This record gives sequence, structure tokens and C-alpha cells, in this order.
Amino acid sequence: MATIELVSDGPLLVKDVTQCRNSRGEAIAVKDPFYLCRCGGSANKPFCDGTHKKIGFKSAREAPPPSGGSSSASGGKSAAAAPCVRIKKDGPYLVTGVPDLKCDVAPPDPAQYALCRCGASKTKPYCDGSHRVIGFKDDKN
Ligand code: FES
Repeated sequence: MATIELVSDGPLLVKDVTQCRNSRGEAIAVKDPFYLCRCGGSANKPFCDGTHKKIGFKSAREAPPPSGGSSSASGGKSAAAAPCVRIKKDGPYLVTGVPDLKCDVAPPDPAQYALCRCGASKTKPYCDGSHRVIGFKDDKN
């Protein structure tokens, strides 16, 4: 079953997800499992290269995330979508088909949610739009 785990002060650990696409819709080859950068500093985006340790990335939430949705996604139609991580241009990871996000606060919509990859969100692991404020750029993806 596809899952995403949050590594404390580190990346996203993605399991059983075979589809990853850049902002142009092109497939990115992934292994199983793979680690996605969420500090914003990796030189090998979207993958983690260990930079979070060098820059002292902290993954603690600083503000409450959007109100959590129902965590009883089992049996819902939304779980039928193929697990996929899509990269938004200079923005978050848009996750579909992975209702099993290992987080203390369920996503507002388990069928589709946006995870921060710039490192600046105050509502980690969710994107709060801070990528625009800090001018996050990822020209490669
Ligand atoms: S990607 Fe970090 S706040 Fe949106």
C-alpha cells in the first residue's frame, strides 16, 4: 500500500509509489522506496541528498494546518486513483492516490494534498504558500 512517512527534520519517505512527474508532466524515474527533499536545499531535487543536515532543517510545525479531513478514507472512491507525486512549478508536491499519509493531522482531502518542498511552510508537512514568499525556485523540475 502506498504510504508517505515524514522523517523528522528530514525528507519524505515514499513507499509503493511508482509515478512521479515533474511540472512539465514528464516522468521521473523512482526506486522503491524513495526520499523526497522537503528542506528545499537539495542539489538533486526532487530527491534528498542529505542537505537538510547541513542547513539544520527543522520539520516542526509552527502553525496549525488547514482543518484536517476525515481519516476514515478506507473504502472511499478517492483511494482508487493511482498513487502519484506531481511537482508543481516552484511549489509543492501534489500527491494523489496516497491516502495513507503518516501524519498526526490528516490532510483536508486525503485524495489530493500538497506537501511543502521548499522548507518554509509554517504548517508542515503541508504547503501554506510560503514558497512564493521566499521565491523558491527549482528550474530543473
Ligand atoms: S512548497 Fe513550501 S510552502 Fe509551498
